[in-house]
Amino acid sequence: MSILHYFSKDANKRAKFIFGLIAPIYAKVDPHLVKGYQKTIQKLDDEITIEGKTVLDIGTGTGAWAMKFLQSNAAKVHGVDLSPKMHIVSKEKHPKIEFSIGDAEDLKEFTDNSFDIVTASFVVHGVKVNRREKILSEMKRVSKEYVVLHDFIGKTPVFVRFLEFMEKSDYKNFKKNICNELQAKFTKTMKIESDLGSGLYIASK
Ligand SMILES: C[S@@+](CC[C@H](N)C(=O)[O-])C[C@H]1O[C@@H](n2cnc3c(N)ncnc32)[C@H](O)[C@@H]1O
Repeated sequence: MSILHYFSKDANKRAKFIFGLIAPIYAKVDPHLVKGYQKTIQKLDDEITIEGKTVLDIGTGTGAWAMKFLQSNAAKVHGVDLSPKMHIVSKEKHPKIEFSIGDAEDLKEFTDNSFDIVTASFVVHGVKVNRREKILSEMKRVSKEYVVLHDFIGKTPVFVRFLEFMEKSDYKNFKKNICNELQAKFTKTMKIESDLGSGLYIASK
């Protein structure tokens, strides 16, 4: 892929370019991500008990968030990502997890109600409201019970704000509107703050 993809109007081409470029850095920080996500997965486990559940992790990247579900005794974990380079890294880092390449807006590989939990970690803030709506609809369709977003809540650290600017993400509107967007689609929603400006949005079908 060339640098021109960074300026593409097609957001998926841009995401593939950006995440393909930073996949080797992500590969190096994966063990730190796995460690850093511990507090948040514990909070989730306290709410919905992960043990024995089947999990689909959308925009899985290196598979760090997916790994937390496996470590919490999920029955089965599958990670899906748009970026072929991230796909290579995730398979290398976490051989016990199943991974595939796919688009969060069209999860055609998966049938309705096929996983107990469908989750996405630091993915949904990246796209504008119309695409968020498509992603949330697909997550809801594939989920039997819960849709869980692990994402920004509250004050975003300065260095992260710079990265989000470079990524052209929609994180400010995400933080402002995501609770209403979830409430419009799900019967019950919950927001739980964790650390470093992150946390959980748990929605039940
Ligand atoms: C910020 S990274 C987060 C990675 C991982 N979830 C984590 O928390 O460590 C965002 C990931 O979402 C993926 N992604 C972005 N748009 C996507 C889409 N439409 N479908 C699937 N994956 C997507 C990117 O390729 C990237 O790996």
